[in-house]
Amino acid sequence: MPLTAAQPNVRVVTLKIDNRDLSAREDETLLEVCREHQIPVPSLCYLEGLSLWAGCRLCMVELVGQNRLVAACSTRVAEGMVIQTDSPRLQRYRRTLVELLFAERNHVCSVCVSNGHCELQTLAQRLGVDHVRFSYRQVHYHLDSSHELFRLDHNRCILCTRCVRVCDEIEGAHAWDVMGRGGQCQIISDLATPWGESETCTSCGKCVQVCPTGALVKQGTSAGEMVKDQHFLPILARRRHAR
Ligand code: SF4
Ligand code: SF4
Ligand code: FES
Repeated sequence: MPLTAAQPNVRVVTLKIDNRDLSAREDETLLEVCREHQIPVPSLCYLEGLSLWAGCRLCMVELVGQNRLVAACSTRVAEGMVIQTDSPRLQRYRRTLVELLFAERNHVCSVCVSNGHCELQTLAQRLGVDHVRFSYRQVHYHLDSSHELFRLDHNRCILCTRCVRVCDEIEGAHAWDVMGRGGQCQIISDLATPWGESETCTSCGKCVQVCPTGALVKQGTSAGEMVKDQHFLPILARRRHAR
């Protein structure tokens, strides 16, 4: 979000990110400021225009002077903050998180419809993940092909809840929810009915477009063919805030 003169009650603070002296509105988050200044901080659950989930923990950064890491997407800037976004410790941490995501479900990129257009895959490449140090759970989750237009493959789901939030907050249908805990956790449509039988889904496809992986895709797509289009999110968010 750029600085504007239209909000007189919001103070401007100064902070240092990766040794750069920056200023920001006090109501901005660290992630927003990093994005404004092209400082690359990874994220998977965050999406501009949707509410915060802060569940993936990939956006963690170092707040100098504190031992713990903080999530950039859910931490507001403050006067005098000193932030590191790309230390060796953070690189190790992010790499471990991505490896755990790969080990948790079944990600076989070469046969995935999102191969080449997947945010998880891109992040893994960026972090240099060329192997996974953890045992794969080798679980087989359900594939729901009951919807005439779309398909849900739980094997590729990273539980970022983008689909749940876009359906509720932008489309207003609230067709998706999260059920269960731990390894049993999964997204469900309506009260765990097949997607094609959902009485709330409007078939708008927004959940498919915001899904960062090959979990939600169009029917009829094969390996590497699914490309997501999220251009509508910032536009809708701006309209919502302008009301
Ligand atoms: S969802 Fe992404 S990471 Fe998973 S198999 Fe498909 S391309 Fe690979
Ligand atoms: S289906 Fe996609 S958008 Fe929904 S929680 Fe899973 S990975 Fe995220
Ligand atoms: S992007 Fe911050 S926790 Fe997921």
